Amino acid sequence: MQISYTDGKEFALTLIFIFIFNAAINITQHSFSGTDVFGYTSFLAYSTIPNIIFYCEFHLKFQLLNHHSALEDNLIFFTGQKGQGLNGDDFLVLGLRDGKVVYSYNLGSGTATIISKPLDLTLNIHVIHLGRYLQKGWLKVDDQKNKTVTSPGRLVGLNVFSQFYLGGYHEYTPELLPKGSRFKNGFQGCIFDVQVRTNMNQEFKAPGTPEGHPNSGRSVGQCKASPCSLIRCRNGGKCVESGSTVYCDCLAGWKGAFCTEIVTVCDPEHDPPHLCKQGGTCVPLPNGYTCHCPLGTSGIYCEQGMSNE
Ligand SMILES: *[C@@H]1O[C@H](CO)[C@@H](O)[C@H](O)[C@H]1NC(C)=O
Repeated sequence: MQISYTDGKEFALTLIFIFIFNAAINITQHSFSGTDVFGYTSFLAYSTIPNIIFYCEFHLKFQLLNHHSALEDNLIFFTGQKGQGLNGDDFLVLGLRDGKVVYSYNLGSGTATIISKPLDLTLNIHVIHLGRYLQKGWLKVDDQKNKTVTSPGRLVGLNVFSQFYLGGYHEYTPELLPKGSRFKNGFQGCIFDVQVRTNMNQEFKAPGTPEGHPNSGRSVGQCKASPCSLIRCRNGGKCVESGSTVYCDCLAGWKGAFCTEIVTVCDPEHDPPHLCKQGGTCVPLPNGYTCHCPLGTSGIYCEQGMSNE
């Protein structure tokens, strides 16, 4: 384990920090305390996420420490070019500002930003799904609508070499971070279940090498409440905590983070699965479904034409 220091002031906290951090690498429910008395944020740093250049998707859940300072201007995660503070530096960042979730990225030719609706503060736990494919980005927060954006300019690749920072930055001076990626404070609360994939056909995984293990961090503790004590799975679903993941195991017919969405005939969760073949798109109908067939295929299930793959 490598621990680095940016400033002598941190020395006083070193012993406490090492103790807390050693505990933190063995816990999966990380609690972040925002900014300390010296102005440093609590954070965890994971190894650079490989192959993030063209595609990435993240899931995470969080619980806020309070509904005031935790929602003002707080980082959730950051990865990007650092040290120059230039306008064209690539980055991908997620945070909270004025009670809303803010997701931004810059591929080098301008910043794209999605801002959610205000968070529903009656929820104990918030769920975020976000992603990016070339210039197109999307953000889905809790039960809000999935919002999309397209980044400006002509560049399509995210070139970031930094570690993946969760909850805060290593630096004392966020001025050195790319413009458009700065949040004043660190995250205040618990972050559960961060998962990422950089290919549509991959499984989601926790960041870090080995998986789920941060390289360094500062002032991160254990969450007091277990995530399942905060989550209310609906419609008969059961909350399951397993390693670094927390999810609702839904009864047949329900899906979504809290089992609030009905499984339709075309969803992959549906039993029996739809029969559209050869890349046919399943489209629900009032009683059943139909398959929209790609060029060169036909039949009720697009089973004809194009030779077998
Ligand atoms: C949101 O929309 C994007 C782009 O249309 C899509 O790829 C993504 O799967 C959607 N996410 C969710 C959680 O609905």
